[in-house]
Amino acid sequence: MRIDRDQDLPEALIAALTSADRVAVLTGAGVSAESGVPTFRDAQTGLWARHDPMTLASPEGFSRQPDLVWDWYQHRRRLIAETAPNAGHHALARLQKRFEQFTLITQNVDGFHQLAGSEPVLELHGNIQRTICSQTRQLIAPDWLDQHSDQQPPPSPHHPEGLARPDVVWFGEMLDPETLDQAFAAAEHCDLMIVAGTSGLVHPAAGIPLLAVRAGKPMIDINPDRSELSGLADWHLAGPSAHWLPKLASSL
Ligand code: OAD
Repeated sequence: MRIDRDQDLPEALIAALTSADRVAVLTGAGVSAESGVPTFRDAQTGLWARHDPMTLASPEGFSRQPDLVWDWYQHRRRLIAETAPNAGHHALARLQKRFEQFTLITQNVDGFHQLAGSEPVLELHGNIQRTICSQTRQLIAPDWLDQHSDQQPPPSPHHPEGLARPDVVWFGEMLDPETLDQAFAAAEHCDLMIVAGTSGLVHPAAGIPLLAVRAGKPMIDINPDRSELSGLADWHLAGPSAHWLPKLASSL
């Protein structure tokens, strides 16, 4: 059922929310759109509409042009540092406190959920503010990066051939299996699944809400457009997450 922005939340949705003990939430880039962070696949403004993902977000692209890739992530880090969590992130942090079990799973690498006060957060695709060694994946401390900032990217302290790279999952790379297992388990065993701001095109993340649906659990999808997942949802809240997530939080 599609609910438009000018409509109230349906009674049945509020009942599903208030009666739930275990809630699982999957967020995507759309949740940060109103903070001013571009999404990936929106036609005009999406990052992948303007940049080639294989050049900027794959191990092969990094091997070919490490300076270009490092520079692009530095630019994105600066953009994120200049922006802030929005009303949607804050509403999720409020919601988290209201349930016995509330698993917040995100595909976003901007760290905005934690900044808004959500804890813990399952970060499926890593975090852009952390830097790791391209060879060993060990964390590199900010001090080391500052001391070697004349090199783009800085070398790694952990391996003679290593370079500093962002701690994000690139195309062709594996997600952390433990994090993914926790996300799958939360979706399978939840009483209510909430999806917000994702196109549902990237697997394995997009498979997480499918587990809840297959287990017969109700699902809410929040997206101004109809996504791959909207048709599976019991309620498609059509509109921005900064509008709908605060509405969900205040309905409790
Ligand atoms: P996409 O860019 O694929 O999808 C963003 C979704 O957000 C779209 O369906 C939009 O309609 C929706 N959207 C836009 N504005 C919104 C708003 N204000 N409120 C709610 N929804 C809004 O982003 P993701 O689904 O997150 O991977 O993409 C998944 C992964 O693909 C990303 O994590 C990234 C990318 O390649 C990695 O970086 C590994």
